[in-house]
Amino acid sequence: AAKSAGFQALRERVLACTKCEHLVKSRKTVVFGVGDIHARLLFVGEAPGAEEDVQGEPFVGAAGQKLTQIIQAMGLTRAKVFIANVLKCRPDTPGQAYGNRKPRPDEMATCLPYLQEQIELMQPEAIVALGATAMEGLFGENQVFIAKARGRWRSFRGIPVMPTYHPSYILRNEALTVKRQVWEDMLAVMERLGMPINEKQRNYFLPGKS
Ligand code: URA
Repeated sequence: AAKSAGFQALRERVLACTKCEHLVKSRKTVVFGVGDIHARLLFVGEAPGAEEDVQGEPFVGAAGQKLTQIIQAMGLTRAKVFIANVLKCRPDTPGQAYGNRKPRPDEMATCLPYLQEQIELMQPEAIVALGATAMEGLFGENQVFIAKARGRWRSFRGIPVMPTYHPSYILRNEALTVKRQVWEDMLAVMERLGMPINEKQRNYFLPGKS
């Protein structure tokens, strides 16, 4: 109950945030996060896109559908995990009719305390960091090379973090090897959490097996 109250209070503060003047002006909603605050697993993305900004929920656009598939392949549902972004507001794109902009380091640094509080309250057993930008925001690092970082456990304030490719990268690169790499990262997470893994799951995205 303390957790729920803490989350509710935090949500209210985040939804009313005005720290980034330019984002306050351009945003439609603040995208706090969605799922079970008691979940063992937290997925962290970079920032809301256009669809997320409208709906107020993370990962509901094209990349979101891919993430939902990944979560389901693990034998979970969106409701059984928690999903959040480093940046809670959609990066503005002045003069641009469509497309997204990568969040800037200063924007992510401003917003990071909110994610830190979410993690502090939630105490997940593992975090999946989706893409280089999520890693850069979480760890305050520059130019993370995700092809190198993925698949290797890191630690965020004592909580194990598994970096992997952003689901939008899978959309752009349908190669089986990329899917298998993401899947191997998820298998490592499932193993760490002691989740059941069947033979079919072990073999997902292996050449000639899926
Ligand atoms: N990409 C992200 O990183 N986060 C979202 O919420 C949606 C797309």
